[in-house]
Amino acid sequence: ARRPRVLSGIQPTADSFHLGNYLGAVRNWVAMQNTHDAFYCVVDLHAITMGHDPKVLRNRTRVSVAQLLALGLDPDLCTLFVQSHVPEHAQLGWVLSCITGFGEAGRMVQFKDKSAKAGQDSTTVGLFTYPILQAADILLYQADQVPVGEDQRQHLELTRDLAQRFNTRFGKTFNIPSAYIVKDTAKITDLQDPTSKMSKSASSPNGIIELLEDPARSAKKIKSAVTDTGREILFDEENKPGVSNLLTIYAALTKRTIDDLLEQYDGRGYGDLKKDLAEVLVEFVKPVQERTRAYLDDPGQLDKILAIGAEKARAVSADTLARAYQNVGF
Ligand code: ADP
Ligand code: NA
Repeated sequence: ARRPRVLSGIQPTADSFHLGNYLGAVRNWVAMQNTHDAFYCVVDLHAITMGHDPKVLRNRTRVSVAQLLALGLDPDLCTLFVQSHVPEHAQLGWVLSCITGFGEAGRMVQFKDKSAKAGQDSTTVGLFTYPILQAADILLYQADQVPVGEDQRQHLELTRDLAQRFNTRFGKTFNIPSAYIVKDTAKITDLQDPTSKMSKSASSPNGIIELLEDPARSAKKIKSAVTDTGREILFDEENKPGVSNLLTIYAALTKRTIDDLLEQYDGRGYGDLKKDLAEVLVEFVKPVQERTRAYLDDPGQLDKILAIGAEKARAVSADTLARAYQNVGF
């Protein structure tokens, strides 16, 4: 049987991925290469909605790709590409924007949040319409499944509505994608504030582990992570969010179960757990950093990988766009 097709994207909006990005998203991308017909996209078109520096963006896009490869994406097993290399995204985005109601787009909660934060003068029309471009990202590939976190649910609903609307008005053109609920997504929390999620925008420098930072610095952050009152090592996200977060990270990086770890640390203190986890983390990031550097040190090779990825993506997206254009009357 044909494997379900999955589409997922990540924004090149930081100089490094953080541990939450890896354990919550990229790790699943790596796993899905073997179970899905996977399309993965570094969504640089989405990274210019809030103001940006061209040089920084270009660099972050390449660093993102290099990290994805270093973390285990294999261009022979998936289609890995950069969104701006595939012009059909913007082209279909325009068509879909013309069947989206202004009020409908205005109901997107994420826009309300982000525009409130940015203020009216810095809020662009691109930020307003970005969920429509996201719909194009998904529909171009006739994706069956889209892995979504809570904050993206509403956007996937919009995508489904737009696909259905287009199909009804202009004839069957798009597959209707479903949300793909990943079974064991680790939600990684801030090391200094373990009730909120680790996040590039909200975490303090010591609350976030960046994959490309000095591993000694990461080790230090683990060792000074906020733990909880009491001394027993228990997995209890409600009452011991700090220790539970460390256990989650530990289990994910070593592919061990929490129960197995609890048994190992039975009767031992937080200090032991932190010391061992710091070592595990350093052992994990070192080769990732080496591989990332190797990709960045060979720009020709990276360009080649991206050219092949864009070509594979366009083999699908150009076909979908041609049908959409035909059906809409172009
Ligand atoms: P951030 O929240 O730091 O801005 P993004 O929104 O760019 O990160 O997220 C990129 C991907 O990483 C998304 O799939 C998101 O669900 C995942 N992700 C981000 N932070 C975490 C976290 N703390 N734990 C688990 N997954 C996360
Ligand atoms: Na976010």
